Amino acid sequence: MQRLQFLRLGWLAITALPGFVLAPAQAQAPATVKAPQRSPFLISRPVPDQASIDRGRALYVPTCGFCHGTNATGAEGPDLVRSFVALRDEGGNEIGPVIKAGRPGMPAFPQLTDDQIRDIAAFLRNRQQDAIDRNAYQIKNVNTGNIEKGKAYFAAHCAACHSPEKDLKGIGGKYEDAVLLGKIVYPTGRGVTPAARRTVTVTANGKAISGRLEYLDDFEVGLKDSTGEYHAFQRGPTVKVAVKDPLAGHEKLMKIFNDADLHDVLAYLVTMK
Ligand code: HEC
Ligand code: HEC
Repeated sequence: MQRLQFLRLGWLAITALPGFVLAPAQAQAPATVKAPQRSPFLISRPVPDQASIDRGRALYVPTCGFCHGTNATGAEGPDLVRSFVALRDEGGNEIGPVIKAGRPGMPAFPQLTDDQIRDIAAFLRNRQQDAIDRNAYQIKNVNTGNIEKGKAYFAAHCAACHSPEKDLKGIGGKYEDAVLLGKIVYPTGRGVTPAARRTVTVTANGKAISGRLEYLDDFEVGLKDSTGEYHAFQRGPTVKVAVKDPLAGHEKLMKIFNDADLHDVLAYLVTMK
């Protein structure tokens, strides 16, 4: 299904970015791997292994963090430290089906393996135990770029669609730095996945109908109009399909960004208070 393919490509593009957010997280991994210290009076369930937590964090932050918060306490998506699904989870048995199938407002990640899901579960359990233990959790500072270089990069690659005085005014104070970093690559609005934001105009028999793109493959196109009514069309030479994706600009950027550009642009965005 087209919608699924779109999301899968988006995700691949994020993980394919050279060294993107994964690099700092990996660099943080300790040389000797041992379980974190926990108070036996507070923590009754097994403490996950530190290597698994670190791998889970490296996956979670760029893949899930911009919707669920980099420390998993929620952003556009729900808080996963207090979520019953995540609290009940054992090694991915509860969160796994949600991750693989997606939810309204959450893309499916069918490409994540059971081992990767177990690592994400370990990271989330670690966050829950941190919350119980009241240990501070700090994500590594991601604002390490050069403001002037970021400003130049912004002028060349972002200014066609964005302005520091208009739509991005105050962006630096709006999100945590790591969430903002994710937004540059993969912006989402209020829990709506980019695929759901695509609109389409179908012209058939001289009549044009526009609405939110719901389905698209080589044979069929489906849309929901402004009243919520679903329209399906067989595709063919007499049926014109024009898809508009407001985030196409970001899709293209994913292919040319490198790690330094991203961090420079972030440093510049953070100055937009
Ligand atoms: C585009 C935003 C987005 C991304 C990316 C995303 N989620 Fe979600 N997630 C949501 C939203 C929104 C919900 C709530 C859906 C609902 O109301 O059922 C949700 C629900 C969940 C739930 C169920 C919580 C509960 O208590 O019901 C889990 C678990 C979860 N997400 C884990 C993840 C993990 C792990 C990742 C990364 C692999 C991820 N999500 C990526 C938006 C997102
Ligand atoms: C071709 C147009 C286009 C280009 C180029 C573009 N963007 Fe965007 N950007 C968008 C659209 C559309 C949105 C979604 C706006 C919305 O949510 O309403 C967006 C959203 C964002 C957001 C999230 C804003 C928010 O309030 O949550 C950030 C941050 C962002 N872009 C940064 C950048 C940066 C940095 C660049 C350059 C490296 C860039 N964009 C290039 C079109 C573009």
